[in-house]
Amino acid sequence: MKEQLLKLKNEVIEKLSKISNENDLRELEIKYLGRKGELTTILRELKNLSEEEKKIIGALSNETKQYLEQKFEEKLNELKNKKLDQDLKESIDYTLPGKKYEFGHLHPITILQQRVETIFSQMGFSVMDGPEIESEWYNFEGLNIPSTHPARDMQDTFFIDQEADDKHGNLVLRTHTSPVQVRTMLKYGAPLRVIVPGRVFRNEATDARHEHTFDQVEGLCVDENISLSHLKGVMQEFLTRLFEKEVKVRFRPGFFPFVEPGLELDFSCLLCAGKGCKVCKNIGWLEFMGAGMVHENVLKAGKIDPKKYQGWAFGFGLTRLALMRYEIDDIRHLMTPNLQFLKQF
Ligand code: PHE
Repeated sequence: MKEQLLKLKNEVIEKLSKISNENDLRELEIKYLGRKGELTTILRELKNLSEEEKKIIGALSNETKQYLEQKFEEKLNELKNKKLDQDLKESIDYTLPGKKYEFGHLHPITILQQRVETIFSQMGFSVMDGPEIESEWYNFEGLNIPSTHPARDMQDTFFIDQEADDKHGNLVLRTHTSPVQVRTMLKYGAPLRVIVPGRVFRNEATDARHEHTFDQVEGLCVDENISLSHLKGVMQEFLTRLFEKEVKVRFRPGFFPFVEPGLELDFSCLLCAGKGCKVCKNIGWLEFMGAGMVHENVLKAGKIDPKKYQGWAFGFGLTRLALMRYEIDDIRHLMTPNLQFLKQF
């Protein structure tokens, strides 16, 4: 019987190695280990043996049974794993070219705005924010532009058919970032050193140089003993850091109701360094922004004592600066979702 058991064991091992699917495996198991299987048949002979032999053979047959059961289980797992591998192989085609995931990035205006904020922060300016839907009062009256003033025509805007709070007239889409001057004065008082980047709107027919919606950066410095020479120094430093080359600035007289004296600031042409070229139309200078000493009436609107404090303010077009910085020939590109254009930044 010992030989019989050994023979059966080897037979099963041999056959197991050739099995390639679960059905055949189950059949084989029934054939050898089932209730009417070959192992049971052998064990039936046990009763014909002596007590001594019964013990030895009994133990051996148990061992064989356990051993084979384990082998069947191992084979079953092996087959299952193989099937999983097969399924995976069939569902994934490893030869297909990979999918390229596109990453988005910041808009050129945002990139430039962050750069501007960084430079001014390094010079001790805080970055402020204000509402794009503004009251007529903050946008005009508070800035020394009464409703009858012709300067209102310079900044035609979109009026909203709804009144602002506190008898501040109607709501308008702000035409500039200057209303945040008075808002900041009222909120923080003097002294102040802030910039206000933000979106502004004008009732404007669009062309390569004009848009109804664009971005500005306001600047405001209020303290004792502040003069225009501080403004000149700050702007020269700012532009030199931004363009990473020596830039000079100059003042020309200009008019804005909320500054006195008012001025326009130009900077030296970056291409020809002031010698004159196509970009600066042979002038050597590029028009950049409006500025001036804050008007007494504006300080008063901001509840700041004009006898003790004075300051300057400026406002430049972030959008225009982007056109210059990145040599973009049409302002309208900035508002389109044209990826060919946007991916260059
Ligand atoms: N707000 C003005 C404009 O939009 C610019 C400006 C700001 C001028 C501050 C002087 C002082 O044109």
